[in-house]
Order: sequence, then C-alpha cells, then structure tokens
Amino acid sequence: MKIVIFGASSKTGLLLVQQTIDAGHEVTAFAREPSKITIQDDHLNIIQGDALKPAQVSDSIQGQEAVLSLIGPTKGAPKNLTSECTRNILEGMQDHNVKRLVLTSVAGIPTPNDETSGASKFIGSLLKIFLKDMFLDRENQLALLESSDREWVAIRLPRLTDDKPAGQYQLGFKNPGMRLKISRANLAAAMLDQLSEDSYLRQAPIISQV
Ligand SMILES: NC(=O)c1ccc[n+]([C@@H]2O[C@H](COP(=O)([O-])OP(=O)(O)OC[C@H]3O[C@@H](n4cnc5c(N)ncnc54)[C@H](OP(=O)(O)O)[C@@H]3O)[C@@H](O)[C@H]2O)c1
Repeated sequence: MKIVIFGASSKTGLLLVQQTIDAGHEVTAFAREPSKITIQDDHLNIIQGDALKPAQVSDSIQGQEAVLSLIGPTKGAPKNLTSECTRNILEGMQDHNVKRLVLTSVAGIPTPNDETSGASKFIGSLLKIFLKDMFLDRENQLALLESSDREWVAIRLPRLTDDKPAGQYQLGFKNPGMRLKISRANLAAAMLDQLSEDSYLRQAPIISQV
C-alpha cells in the first residue's frame, strides 16, 4: 500500500516509518525538516511541508492509499494545531479520494462509548480546566472526524514511553485515567494494524499496555 505519514519526524513517527516499510508498504514521510528523518530506504520518499498549509497537505496525499498522522503540538504551535492539521488532512483525502486515516488523540478527551469511573471523570474535569486550549483543540479534532465521511480511527493516548515493545497493547473504552502508559513502539504497531482492521472504524479507542 502507498501510505503518507504526517508527524514522521516525531519519536513515534520514526518508529512508525520503519515499521511501515518493514511491513512492505511504500512510505511518504511528510516533515517540516526532512533532515530529522534519519531513515534511508528505497521504499521511503520524504516530502518537506507544513501541515498547516492545505495545498502542501493535499499534494502529499495525491496518489496515496492511506494516511497516518502523529501531528501534535511542539514549541510555539498555534492553539488549534491538531484540529487545523486534521482539517487539512481530511480535505486532502477528500480531494484525492483516499479513505483510511489513523491518527492520534489524547486519553483525557471523553467519548460517548467510554466506561469511565468517578475518579477518572474527576481527573478529566481538572485536566479540562488546566489544559483548556489542548482540550478544545482535541475536542475540535474529534468533531471534525465525526462530521467527515472518511474511514478514520483516532487512537487516544495515555503517557508515551520509550520502552521496548513489551507484550501486547490493548484498545478499548475503559478509560484508564492518565496514569497508564503505552510505548511508542507499540503505538506505532497499533496504528499500522488499524490500517487493515475495521473493528474501531469511526471510533476513538484508548490504547494501553497489556
Ligand atoms: N508524549 C506523550 O506522552 C503524549 C501523550 C498524549 C498524546 N501525545 C501525542 O502523540 C503523538 C506523538 O508524540 P511524540 O512524543 O512521539 O512526538 P511529538 O514530539 O509530540 O511530535 C509531534 C510531531 O508533530 C509534528 N508537527 C507539529 N506541527 C507540525 C506542522 N505544522 N506540520 C507538520 N508537522 C508538524 C512535529 O514535527 P517537527 O519535528 O517538525 O516539530 C512532530 O513530528 C503526538 O501527536 C502527541 O501530541 C503524546
């Protein structure tokens, strides 16, 4: 499959690029600074671009069969970074008739399917107060996905770690609160798996270590 990866320069992104190539796909890595993509492979094409620029995003999606995105705020990012980039990705997918999108969200954002305990609801409401802008941006990101007609899966993340892939990951709606974690290697594996899985289509499951 031909797959474009946004946020390819992130720690998780580099693992995802490598795992996607190893799985036999043709990868396009989209990055603001191509020098950060330290992987070289005949099956890897690197495109320089800014995901806040709709035309650059749309051009990079042309000819692809699926999209993966790890875009998240870095220093100096606008408050609406993830929602704006998601909007540009969805429009680019519409332009070029690409159906499948797997991307990341955060575990603190509630969804209707969640089985949430009182304690994690309380933690969620505190986070919503203290991380107001991040919450709003991620809520808007999910709203954009829900109103689109694409085949999306948004994997909601607890804390990311650099642990080696340990055993298996789990996806689901039992909101574990923010204390749980997932390794970046397992997150990359889960994103790749969701390209060919239909069980969480148009949903936002939480991921965690088993
Ligand atoms: N770390 C955690 O515990 C945690 C928890 C919950 C969710 N997350 C989310 O998980 C994902 C991966 O996290 P990570 O720690 O591996 O990486 P990260 O440092 O959060 O990486 C963010 C990525 O987004 C890219 N990006 C930002 N603005 C962009 C723009 N305008 N155009 C193109 N690319 C842009 C960055 O590119 P540059 O290299 O050019 O900056 C980088 O590749 C992110 O979405 C993050 O928000 C992380």
